[in-house]
Amino acid sequence: KSGWTGVNERTFIAVKPDGVQRRLVGEIVRRFEKKGFKLVALKLVMASEELLKEHYWHLRNRPFYNRLVRDMSSGPIVAMVWQGLDVIKTGRKMMGETSPSDSMPATIRGDNGVEVRRNAIHGSDSVESAHREISLWFQETELSSWDVCSTNWIY
Ligand code: PPS
Repeated sequence: KSGWTGVNERTFIAVKPDGVQRRLVGEIVRRFEKKGFKLVALKLVMASEELLKEHYWHLRNRPFYNRLVRDMSSGPIVAMVWQGLDVIKTGRKMMGETSPSDSMPATIRGDNGVEVRRNAIHGSDSVESAHREISLWFQETELSSWDVCSTNWIY
């Protein structure tokens, strides 16, 4: 895991249930691909309450904690791992601010929606949270390596 630096940096990105419901999966994947990041893992999951409580454990004392866990349980989530130079910081920039109404146009949240409870996407906010979240949502065997693609690859 300590090798996840530089061009190998990884982040956990999730299309939340409201984003899946509003058919934003393709749009979000397209933006990360277009930017030049590599898709390392992707799955559609109904997350358990247990997993979501652990995922948001650092927010357990916030008034919206239970509601957030409930909203995230309301439908399938597209869980992903993306890789690339500065993917954590850049991914957060691409997402916009927590509230869609504070988000600049051309960001994912700025272009899709108005409510903080329906802000479409989650992204890790630090190297530490990326490590924690990736290992919480994915088995090691679910993460792909692009190393095999370095030769005979289509450009
Ligand atoms: S805070 O207040 O700075 O801790 O908030 P932030 O780090 O920006 O947000 C953490 C996650 O909490 C979600 N959030 C909310 N959900 C429901 N209702 C309200 N009012 C609310 N405020 C913040 C926010 O979408 C973040 O979720 P993730 O999945 O991490 O993006």
